[in-house]
This record gives sequence, C-alpha cells and structure tokens, in this order.
Amino acid sequence: MVPSDSKIQFDHQGRLRHFLTINGLPKETLVQILDTAESFISFGQREIRKVPLLRGKTVVNLFFEPSTRTRTTFEIAAKRLSADVINLSAARMSTSKGESILDTARTLEAMHTDLFVVRDSASGASHLIASHLPEHVRVINAGDGRHAHPTQAMLDMFTIRREKGGFEGLKVAIIGDVLHSRVARSQIHALSTLGVDEIRLIGPRTLIPTEVEAMGVNVTSNMAEGLSGIDVVMMLRLQRERMDGQLVPSEQEYFNRYGLTDDKLSYANPDAIVMHPGPINRGLEIASSVADGDRSVILSQVTNGIAVRMSIMAKLMGGQEDP
Ligand code: CP
Repeated sequence: MVPSDSKIQFDHQGRLRHFLTINGLPKETLVQILDTAESFISFGQREIRKVPLLRGKTVVNLFFEPSTRTRTTFEIAAKRLSADVINLSAARMSTSKGESILDTARTLEAMHTDLFVVRDSASGASHLIASHLPEHVRVINAGDGRHAHPTQAMLDMFTIRREKGGFEGLKVAIIGDVLHSRVARSQIHALSTLGVDEIRLIGPRTLIPTEVEAMGVNVTSNMAEGLSGIDVVMMLRLQRERMDGQLVPSEQEYFNRYGLTDDKLSYANPDAIVMHPGPINRGLEIASSVADGDRSVILSQVTNGIAVRMSIMAKLMGGQEDP
C-alpha cells in the first residue's frame, strides 16, 4: 500500500515542495513545468550550458535500482543548473551492509545536502524519505516500484506537446505491460489532467490491472481495434523482473500479438508518433524498423528529459524565473 503523496508534495503556502506523483497535481502546475522546460530546451545547443539557479546547492542521486536515462539526465540537468551532484548506487551504499534507506538518507542530509532524487524497487520509497527529512530538503521520485515515475511522464508530455502542438483532441494508446508499469500509471494521470480526448490501454488481460477502467481509460486486447485512429503510440517494456509466474505465453507469441511492427503501426493515424520510455527490448515489444523509423521520437524523449528535469528541480528549489 502506497501512502497518499498528494498532501506531502506541498508546503504550508501551497507551493510544490516534492515531486512524488502526478496524481493530484493541478493542470496549471503541469503546464508551468512544461513551459519552463521549453525555455531550457535550447541549452543543449549553447556554448555555455549553465545557469546559476542551483549554485551552492547539492543534489544527491540515490539510485537503488539500475538506470541509464533517468540517472544521467538528472545529473546533466543538475549540473546545467550549477548544482553540485553526488551519484550513489546500491552497490556503493551502506544499505548493502544492512543500513535502512531512511538512515542512508538521514546520513546524507547530515552532510547538508538539499535535494534527493530517489529510485527504488519499493513503492513508496521516495514518500518515506520525503516524510522523514527536514522541511527544507526536497525529494524527487525517479521511479518507485510499480507506483509512479512522474518525471518520465512529464518528459513524455513535453515530447507530445512539441510533436503534436497540444493535448486537445488527441487519442493516445499505451501498449504492453501496464500491470507492472510505474510509467503507465504516471502517464495516465498526466494525460488525463492535460485533457487528451481518449486513453486506450492495449495488452493481454494478464498484463492490464483489473481496476484500471476506473481511471477513465478504455481497454482492449486487440491491436487493430486499439490502434485505430490513434495519434500517439506509447510502448511499454515487458517488465520480466517484476513478474510472478508466467503472465505471457512466450516471447515470440507476445511479439506476434503485441510487438509494434510497421504492419501494426499502419492501423494508427498516418502521422502518429511512436514513444517508448526505454530501455527498449527490440524484437519483443517493438521491431527495430519502428524503433529506428521516422515516426519514432524515442531519442527525443531522452533529450527532452534534461530540460524537463531542469524545470522540475528549479521549481522545487524556488528558482522559477526564466533562465
Ligand atoms: N525510462 C527509464 O526510467 O529509463 P532508465 O531505467 O534507464 O532510467
């Protein structure tokens, strides 16, 4: 059971203090994060890619699970905001000697660190840390169990807005292992809040949570039906490391039914974009010809993640003026 994050995210004056989940955040907050990220996006092309918004602050990347994209883009984002950055991973931390995640966080806070970016296999880990550290410390959820991956969803929203010009009237399909996906949960909250026309989940019933229709989505197991009229195709990784037992018959059969190929993509609108949070499993949930094709925005998602994470860190740390 994951505790409710919505209250703890705000300070006494109603300002966003932590970024733990998108569930419960108002549309204005999401739009403001996207707008600020827009002003950071040109940084990658500048000769000097730094602004002093977090100068003198220390950001700790606390990753108890593997990560390529999230950890690295958080590091780049924090450095572009002029913060000092410390990267810690499970193998290098004293949790491997039995210390609790909370004692690790308290120990690091005693060194006068300011912002924790936390990834853990346990749902609620970032909430636990946020609720036990002093008021001035900020926490960002970089993925907790199956629960939430809110910065991933925000960079996905940023990519959709750039590619499609907005959210109104869009039909979005989320395909694959929704059951184990923290990304899908955060995407559904963000897409609903930003007002897309329809969210469709496509996958085998064994990989779709039973309660999910209550989130206002439509569900189908049929790719042709599900992709019809779709503007944005969001693929998910088959999360075998989180599965108990055999939830798909075989990888080949899964690919045959749900793997995104050029043939299946032809059911969607001709200008539909293809997204994937990564890491991608080629030949399992997506064919290489689609992942590398001209409708794929997968690498743009990665690039956009830097600007979006800069925007979120700047917002939490109080530096919300334009760069
Ligand atoms: N999308 C995502 O979270 O990727 P990483 O696991 O590489 O951070």
